[in-house]
Amino acid sequence: MTKYVIHGGKPLYGEIDISGAKNAAVAIIPAALLVDGVCRIENLPQISDVTLLLNILQELGADVRTVNRTTVDVDCSHIRNARVPEELARKIRASYYLIGALLGRFGSAEVPPPGGCDFGGRPIDQHIKGFVAMGANVDVRGGYIHAKAANGRMTGTQIYLDIVSVGATMNIMLAAVLADGLTIIENAAKEPHIVDLANFLNSMGAEIMGAGTDVIKIRGVERLSGGTYSIIPDQIEAGTYMAAVAAAGGEVLVKNVIPKHLECITAKLLEMGVDVEERDDAVLVRRTGKLTRTNVKTLPYPGFPTDMQPQIAAVLCLAEGTSVITEGVWDNRYRYVDEFRRMGAQIQVDGKIAVIEGVEKFTGARIQACDLRAGAAMVIAGLAAQGTTEIGRIHHIERGYEDIVRKLSGIGADIRVVVTPDEDKQAQVG
Ligand code: EPZ
Repeated sequence: MTKYVIHGGKPLYGEIDISGAKNAAVAIIPAALLVDGVCRIENLPQISDVTLLLNILQELGADVRTVNRTTVDVDCSHIRNARVPEELARKIRASYYLIGALLGRFGSAEVPPPGGCDFGGRPIDQHIKGFVAMGANVDVRGGYIHAKAANGRMTGTQIYLDIVSVGATMNIMLAAVLADGLTIIENAAKEPHIVDLANFLNSMGAEIMGAGTDVIKIRGVERLSGGTYSIIPDQIEAGTYMAAVAAAGGEVLVKNVIPKHLECITAKLLEMGVDVEERDDAVLVRRTGKLTRTNVKTLPYPGFPTDMQPQIAAVLCLAEGTSVITEGVWDNRYRYVDEFRRMGAQIQVDGKIAVIEGVEKFTGARIQACDLRAGAAMVIAGLAAQGTTEIGRIHHIERGYEDIVRKLSGIGADIRVVVTPDEDKQAQVG
């Protein structure tokens, strides 16, 4: 079994570099399927979700070459196969982007239902509604989603999303770039990674307008050709380290970020008495005094991100007074609460609302990561805790955080990976 062992209670000092955005990378890699030629993708985070998706492209017949630690060349020109292998795809949520990309490229796709963190139900009805409106038949049989454009090619149309969905917005964009005519997505999501996917596709010859607003227009083109693209910095990785400094105290320069993308997180930290200074492509985070309570409601961008909810909860556990969190995106994103309680936190959950009574300190405990961001929040709690915290099931964390142990050690954290002979046989869930 592999675990993180953290000796907590040490403030963090120094500088930390942020990697490329996971949730942009996991859409941009499938998007390479639409490109006729070599895509050079730079600033890719070194995380297991990225490795899995590159492996899936290779299994489909793509030529994938590593240029350096963060850059790959992907050439999908010679792929003829639209059936995604089951074992790899089931490990990762973002495998659903392969449906839109393969539909766009071949007019057909066979993809296993996606895996991913368990937050209650994770339907993809809005993705399917979009594909059907564009002329595809979609059904599930034999454990696969089968999608096929009735006339061989997707057709542009107007699609209103009933729910603001990141995945549906990006998936419909992927299906639309090579479609016949104009596709309009209304009530689209506006996350930075949606703009990044649009910029990637436009740099290869697509015609996407309005990404970052709630109406996106995509005029279908005949082909996309190769090019070079660099992925944006990861908003959530940056936010996680900002929260770590808030919880553990200290002063850290979080580098290689787009401060504008962090404003929703910065605003909450400022309310809690943390100093955050914006620089051109960095933020300086400092916490020396006490933390004060606040309320947080997660919402689609530019609201406070649901993917920062467990991490900000870790900070609020140490703030004076009563804080209320309202989860506005997922049905069940409080599975970490029992583990926090083992560390001394006082949290009551009722449906989508968590009420947190601040405590003086966390105390070290043996806990298990239950999903990616919950795992990151447990690391934050461990850094701030008195005593030793051991976190198991860390494969959840490594899906989305590049080199978290090295990065945290670089700012003074006492954290290490410990492998015990008893191999971790737990199934990997993406
Ligand atoms: C993406 O998931 C991210 N994953 C999630 O990040 C993130 O929490 C989420 O967006 C919201 O920001 C990836 O990018 C791979 P949604 P996604 O479609 O696209 C409902 C992380 O930790 N919905 O925006 O799956 C859904 O149930 C991960 O990095 C439908 O009802 O999320 C949810 O309540 C976890 N029908 C809400 O919409 C649909 O067809 C938002 O989901 C689609 C979604």
